Amino acid sequence: MVVRDYISLIHYIDDLEKRGIKVVSLPEILSKLDREVNYEDYDTKKVRDLPRSYVDGKFPGCNESDTKYWEPDNPIIWDWSAGCFTRVIGEMIQGTDIDFITVDFNPLHIERSKVVTQGLSNIEYHVMSSEEFLSSGEGQIDFLYMDTGDMHPIEPTAELHLREAQLIAGCDIMSKNGVILIDDVRNTTPKIVDNEESDYGKAKYSIPFLMKNGFELVMDEYQVVLQKK
Ligand SMILES: C[S@@+](CC[C@H](N)C(=O)[O-])C[C@H]1O[C@@H](n2cnc3c(N)ncnc32)[C@H](O)[C@@H]1O
Repeated sequence: MVVRDYISLIHYIDDLEKRGIKVVSLPEILSKLDREVNYEDYDTKKVRDLPRSYVDGKFPGCNESDTKYWEPDNPIIWDWSAGCFTRVIGEMIQGTDIDFITVDFNPLHIERSKVVTQGLSNIEYHVMSSEEFLSSGEGQIDFLYMDTGDMHPIEPTAELHLREAQLIAGCDIMSKNGVILIDDVRNTTPKIVDNEESDYGKAKYSIPFLMKNGFELVMDEYQVVLQKK
């Protein structure tokens, strides 16, 4: 199912490659897990993410709310580093019965996320903190995309990430074999700007914690994937 739906994203890949961005797709990630994951499981599941910006930082309008900056037919200017996951995953779930829940504590960012996903169905938008959401214990999450916080200063983001990990491990919010994808783990900004020593940056506390508390590391690259044992 996920592989089939990925075909709907192929039209973005040329634009991304022209910008020197390597595409690591959800299906690629899942294919690394195919010993443990039955793709069919993803038909009925819940996915969760957080949204942001209409255009990349080198264009006017980055991180602004004016909808004149949103050009739905011009993906080359979209903010692929900070604002496209919601749209991309939103497209992937169309025609399936996956519920996609997107959470951000900033109401402006949720409004932008509604603009970029206009016309897509099966998406719920919540203005709340990640900790509030993860504490709600509502249902089970099968795929959790963690992307809260900024790269600088890194310490508060790393602490937030640890608190999120503690909430995840402390309740039953992830389903059996559920997958967590952590974005920007090997982003170099913390090393350059904050003299951070850990290669895991924002996830320097959360990854070791999750590995000691029921999760297994299954992909360890710029992004990191863990799976509930
Ligand atoms: C890098 S952006 C996410 C981009 C998104 N993944 C996308 O591709 O559209 C990080 C987001 O985390 C949100 N954020 C930061 N701390 C948060 C928290 N404690 N709870 C909820 N959202 C938070 C910010 O408002 C921001 O929109």
